[in-house]
Amino acid sequence: MCGIVGYLGYKAIAPLLVESLRTLEYRGYDSSGIAIYNNGTQAINIYKATGKLQNLVDVLPADLLIEPPTKNLQVGIGHIRWATHGAPTVENAHPHHGHHGEVVLVHNGIIENFDELKQVLQGKGYVFNSQTDTETVAHLLEDILKSHHNDFLPAVAELRRQLHGAYALTMMHKQAPGKLYVARQQAPLVIGVGNQGEYWVASDVVALVSHTNQIIYLEDGQYAELSEEGGVKLFGPDNTPVEVKIHTIQTGPLTIDKKGYKHFMLKEIYEQPDVVRNALLERITSETSPVFIANDTPIAEKEAVSIASLTQDVDRVIIIGCGTSYNAGMVAKYLIEELVRMPVEIEAAGEYRYRNPVLNDRCLVIAISQSGETADTLEALRLAIRSGAKTIALTNRPDSTMAREVDGVINVRAGVEVSVCATKSFVAQIVALYLLGMMMCEHRGVTEKLAELPALKKALLTLPVLMEAMLSNVEPLQKLARKYGHYTSMLFIARGVCFPAALEGALKLKEISYIHAEGYSGAELKHGPIALLDESMPVVSLLSDGAVFDKMLSNCQEAKARSAQMIAVTNKAIPHGYETTFDDIISYPACHEWVSPLLGSVPLQLLSYYTAEFLGKDVDQPRNLAKSVTVE
Ligand code: AGP
Repeated sequence: MCGIVGYLGYKAIAPLLVESLRTLEYRGYDSSGIAIYNNGTQAINIYKATGKLQNLVDVLPADLLIEPPTKNLQVGIGHIRWATHGAPTVENAHPHHGHHGEVVLVHNGIIENFDELKQVLQGKGYVFNSQTDTETVAHLLEDILKSHHNDFLPAVAELRRQLHGAYALTMMHKQAPGKLYVARQQAPLVIGVGNQGEYWVASDVVALVSHTNQIIYLEDGQYAELSEEGGVKLFGPDNTPVEVKIHTIQTGPLTIDKKGYKHFMLKEIYEQPDVVRNALLERITSETSPVFIANDTPIAEKEAVSIASLTQDVDRVIIIGCGTSYNAGMVAKYLIEELVRMPVEIEAAGEYRYRNPVLNDRCLVIAISQSGETADTLEALRLAIRSGAKTIALTNRPDSTMAREVDGVINVRAGVEVSVCATKSFVAQIVALYLLGMMMCEHRGVTEKLAELPALKKALLTLPVLMEAMLSNVEPLQKLARKYGHYTSMLFIARGVCFPAALEGALKLKEISYIHAEGYSGAELKHGPIALLDESMPVVSLLSDGAVFDKMLSNCQEAKARSAQMIAVTNKAIPHGYETTFDDIISYPACHEWVSPLLGSVPLQLLSYYTAEFLGKDVDQPRNLAKSVTVE
């Protein structure tokens, strides 16, 4: 969602803050800003702009950007915004300052009681210049500081008492020019430790890895003061000092680079063969070797718990996730039920967290999340943890909040995914879930199913080559995008294990091309959606070779009979008698039935990509979306 950065040290600060924000630009991108303490005037200068980060660079004074390292300590904060309260305007962009300019801060999250607090502050004469909840925090903090003799840490304790909601805050105080203050409540925030009193702050480790591998992860309710002389003074939710734990992370500098591709999304689609190879590495070595999945937990004490042992004493699996991660989980429901013969529930985390679900220590709850930070999934996961269920996070970020709270972590190993529209992480999640399903089948000794595993392992091991074949001929999809790009609505249908891939295909198209699209089971069509069909509504059918191929053909016939434009995405020859059913046919390589949602998703991803590109949309940063949704 929004991104926070901060710096305290001796490097030229403006370029450093801007470059750090650039690493987070993909997460939120409607406006940005930085605040820097000016050692000469002893003021905190704020610079803001709407739109892309480059617009901020354009409003910065030139000398700030070329400034060489000085002997003065540099302190500053920065923010890239994804609007929640108020339109993306300069006034609403962060950083925000208090009434008297004493406090300047940036904020991720949502303050739920901001309106109530705002009314009280307005009654005291505080003037608001923005529609944001964040400005309320700045004024409130200044107000509290007055009654705390400008003593910042006790003021933060009082601020925390008054704020309800989610926040990651990074704060500067004009009276304390050499200090940065941070606070975390249900929104991620990390501190990077450099040499000799140099500190970075960020809402995501990605912004820090090119500077340091020494990381302090703030926990919910913690807040801290950072300074060159005092180091990190960390406090817990009860306002008592907490021992600082510095983690050495393995990640080297991350290159966020398009590598010659026009968009990150296209690059990430083309990375998928290697993503699959990487996801399988050392987990299955041959079609006859058993599956091994290590616990990739970042918490040393938890390493002893193996993923296999977590799946042993359970009799129900509950998978939670949002968006694409939810769709990946639905594919796994089909496979785990088939191979493990155990009930699997798939739940949209945003709904699950507000239910009163039946959970106990015989349940295995698998949270799927690319980012590991999605607020709804995190809270649903915490509900499961409280209930005593065994928990696994299946994530692309084994350093994330979810990863640090669960019993076991499965790293999907997709590599950094920059495009807001998830592609390679979807494929990596399904591969990891298939491995988990097969491992459960082996460890739990589901004898009647063991004989099916070698064929599936072989199919996964050969999947990268099939994907490469699919990716080597994209012209038919480019043509299709040009033919159907001007339609305003599309349906995606499939059945069986490919049904979730149809949901995902529709999600991709609407996310980046803004064409209305819905995914349905072919079987559901006649229970309502068929009323929508006529020549203005193209239907994309994922027709995979397998148990439901013939059923899908009938569903396609039913749609064609209503004059819909029919597009088949198939890995089997269309049988005699169905020549006139389809207006267009896209082929993908023949494969094992379980592998079809993985391979069949690639043409659907490309169709969305080329449609959005044809329509001239902002493919990597579609309107209104954010990469990591850390608010409800
Ligand atoms: C996918 O293209 C979306 N951007 C979105 O649905 C995403 O999958 C969802 O917000 C969940 O994110 P997570 O995997 O990081 O939890």
